[in-house]
Amino acid sequence: MESIIIKTPEQIEGIRRSSRLAAQALDFISDYVKAGVTTAYLDQLIDDFIARNGAVAATKGYNGFPKSCCISPNEVVCHGIPSEAIVLKEGDILNVDVTTILDGYYGDTSRMFAVGEISAVARKLIEVTRHSLTLGIQQVRPGNYFGNIGFVINRYVRANGFSVVYEFCGHGVGVRFHEPPQVDHAARRNSGEIMRPGMIFTIEPMINEGRPSTVVDKKDGWTARTADARLSAQFEHTVLVTPTGFEVLSDSQNEYLIT
Ligand code: MF3
Ligand code: CO
Ligand code: CO
Repeated sequence: MESIIIKTPEQIEGIRRSSRLAAQALDFISDYVKAGVTTAYLDQLIDDFIARNGAVAATKGYNGFPKSCCISPNEVVCHGIPSEAIVLKEGDILNVDVTTILDGYYGDTSRMFAVGEISAVARKLIEVTRHSLTLGIQQVRPGNYFGNIGFVINRYVRANGFSVVYEFCGHGVGVRFHEPPQVDHAARRNSGEIMRPGMIFTIEPMINEGRPSTVVDKKDGWTARTADARLSAQFEHTVLVTPTGFEVLSDSQNEYLIT
């Protein structure tokens, strides 16, 4: 098995800058998420923002993916393709997932947005998903097992009556889009590989209102939806293992203290 890359200080700084830019693209887009706009319009704004900042979108052309970000509304779990045909409406929730390449380094982050007033269950799903990512991040420190990330996420999500998607995972990131290891969001305690300083990976739990299983759209080959057509939410950060804990590299809002 290919081993997990330990990044050099120079690589860490490059990935930090790229991750921050991806997060700033999400900060930037928030003012434009409104009823009546298409997801293709949001994608175009993100593409322009990334280009203005000297980077490119990693998703464009990645295994044939046609757009500069993934936009996944409501029952779409992940990999939604921005489209002129998808018009946002009051009550929608959506994940926007941006991966940048800046000076050759990859940063990957996503978060949820709401269009106007949303239902109580949609609000709860978003808050449980956001907190599950925080719990996962708090497991990041040298010597801990990767499996403990998925262990705490799954335990918390199930206690709140929702389910963890097991068909898509987090991943090492930084010098390529997807590196080892695979970061599972539901896992056994003390399973998997051990975290070491200089490792960089994403944690990106996808949490479903109902059943965990997903179905990929047969026509476009990308859009993953909940099999039961109920809601799904996701947050994603790019995280560095520091000598004493973690640094969230895609934290543009200073939400997380560096440990
Ligand atoms: N950004 C996604 C992730 O978190 C991957 C998108 S791949 C694409 O891993 F091809 F769908 F864009
Ligand atoms: Co990712
Ligand atoms: Co992503």
